Amino acid sequence: MLLVEYIKKLKQDNKKINLFSKNEINKIETKHIFDALQAKQFISKKEKLKILDIGSGNGIPGIPIQIEFPNLDTWLIDSKRKKANKLKEFVDFLNINCRVINERVEDFSLTNKNVFDIVLMRAVGKISYYEKYIHSLLKKDGYFLAWKSTNYKEELNTKKLKLVDQYDYFLPTPEREFRTILKFVKL
Ligand SMILES: C[S@@+](CC[C@H](N)C(=O)[O-])C[C@H]1O[C@@H](n2cnc3c(N)ncnc32)[C@H](O)[C@@H]1O
Repeated sequence: MLLVEYIKKLKQDNKKINLFSKNEINKIETKHIFDALQAKQFISKKEKLKILDIGSGNGIPGIPIQIEFPNLDTWLIDSKRKKANKLKEFVDFLNINCRVINERVEDFSLTNKNVFDIVLMRAVGKISYYEKYIHSLLKKDGYFLAWKSTNYKEELNTKKLKLVDQYDYFLPTPEREFRTILKFVKL
């Protein structure tokens, strides 16, 4: 199973390079992969949607989502060359339908207007800073999914995006940390 292969590779590579801290790699399934896959609430298995994962890092949430939804056309963007190279290695290893972009999303959004059905962002930054770039990237009926923990309410005062739905859950870790996925559409 591809998800198992991805987790195995993350764990193996983490022994050589520091992808995750020791504490985080020990919770890779319960904290990171589980978290990524909660987007299933908002994604259809049928349509061939084009999606962008902003600041994909080690591929979360974009890679688990592409594995779970092979109908998607997933683009992973990260501004750090090292991260983008590693992402490309994961994508080639898993042979999945993901394209890797090594660019700042601010620049990428200038030349990719109205092209994505879904934009994802987890653990990158404040929605208020990124919303204008996300607004440009999304198609008219597209939507944005933001992964947040407890302090998300201060981020709801958006000008170019409108909150339309929300999915709350707890991670299956001993701490049972609260998480939420916020769904926004374009204004
Ligand atoms: C804390 S990591 C989160 C990675 C991953 N999304 C996760 O949830 O594990 C943030 C990542 O966003 C990337 N990043 C930060 N600002 C960015 C920008 N403006 N454009 C593209 N990538 C960016 C960083 O290089 C880093 O890999």
